[in-house]
Amino acid sequence: MIKSYERESWASRWGFILAAAGSAIGLGNIWRFPYLAGENGGAAFLLIYLVCIILIGYPLMINEMVVGRKTHRNPVGAFRELAPNTPWWLVGSLGVLAGFTILSFYSIVAGWSLAYIYKTVVGALTPGTDFAGMFVGHITSLWEPIIWHAVFMGLTILVVAGGINKGIQRAVQVLMPLLFILLLVLIGRALTLPGAGAGLTFYLAPDFSEITGRTLLSAVGQAFFSLSLGMGAMITYGSYLRDKDEIAGNGAAVVGLDTLIAVMGGFAIFPAVFALGYDPAAGPGLTFITLPAVFAEMSGGVFFGFLFFTLLAIAALTSAISLLEVVVAWLVDQHRWPRVRAAVVLGVVIFLVGLPATLGYNVLSGVTFLGMDLLDTYDFISGNIMLPLGGLLTAIFVGYVWGTKNAQAEANKVAGAFRIGDWWGFLIRYVVPVAIAAIMFFGIYDTIKSFLAG
Ligand code: TRP
Repeated sequence: MIKSYERESWASRWGFILAAAGSAIGLGNIWRFPYLAGENGGAAFLLIYLVCIILIGYPLMINEMVVGRKTHRNPVGAFRELAPNTPWWLVGSLGVLAGFTILSFYSIVAGWSLAYIYKTVVGALTPGTDFAGMFVGHITSLWEPIIWHAVFMGLTILVVAGGINKGIQRAVQVLMPLLFILLLVLIGRALTLPGAGAGLTFYLAPDFSEITGRTLLSAVGQAFFSLSLGMGAMITYGSYLRDKDEIAGNGAAVVGLDTLIAVMGGFAIFPAVFALGYDPAAGPGLTFITLPAVFAEMSGGVFFGFLFFTLLAIAALTSAISLLEVVVAWLVDQHRWPRVRAAVVLGVVIFLVGLPATLGYNVLSGVTFLGMDLLDTYDFISGNIMLPLGGLLTAIFVGYVWGTKNAQAEANKVAGAFRIGDWWGFLIRYVVPVAIAAIMFFGIYDTIKSFLAG
């Protein structure tokens, strides 16, 4: 393998932290986390989620970053370098494939948020509107979602084509602080609504009676998805770290920021939902049906609705960038494609692969898998099968093939905030694989069981 070509690095420590946090913070934080917390006993879920983040999320984050910085390669190249002439590179390929699949439908959902920015601006959020009808009308229409999907992929391609410093780092340095400010403004508005207190009680008073085995699985699955783990996104971003960059503290910062934004998302959403008397456990409709109704009724709603959907789109964009970067890095590193060509060609192919997921709501509505529409099928296969499998295999690889001692030595090469000790090796070798295997088993079992039960 040729090693002698210019490979970029993050120009600063914060460039890396913001990019990796940007990858992690996405639709998963602003919508999925608050909704899961709402359904699973509020503060009790939060506590369990935090335990999952510490025992599984953080160790896996370090795992991926170490493999990336050690090899300075995309996931396929990284496994090839650490275990030459073995089939382990297939785990990297699985990651590249997962990135491809996730982005193809993630871009469609992100397109919905772009569409809602537009709808908000042109005055579609008026009280008394049938918002459920509006949402269904949007996703079942033929061209609108396709056009917004194209716009979103176009933005993603533009950033990734620019490369690590001129593209990704420059974009996240503007977008991430903006996201944080927007979220603070929204929280301020939500908390000052009359009746906001009921939302706070709901979100913060622990109710352990709602906790079941299933809750645990949701919490672990959420930790995985929210932290962008299991498909080599953090291997790829870690591969652009300089050898003088440390890992323990950077990883902790990324995990901490992701968790902070998820918790903040709940503070922006629940007080508003409760103040206006809506159901917090509305599920998939919470973001696109319940919240528009909330914005329609509150004072300044158009402005705050605009801010909210902009926030959602920004969060989705910085995540989509990381998904495309994984695939682009693979073509650039392994097959020597010029970056711009790789970004454009792959972006267009991913756009096309995503089409069936949106056509599943109209032309292809007859096509289902285990009772799921096409978009949910993409989500299920990538999120519930490919990601956990990727995380499991990467943990086994580092734990038993490359060796946790080697990984620890690499992680501790630069003195950071603290050292990655033997506790980490223990988590990677035993706790993480067992936990992931259990989630996968129960997740797939449950899905098939509920499908058969009709
Ligand atoms: N973490 C992002 C979110 O919460 C989604 C995401 C981006 C992702 N890149 C990923 C998930 C890689 C898994 C793997 O929305």
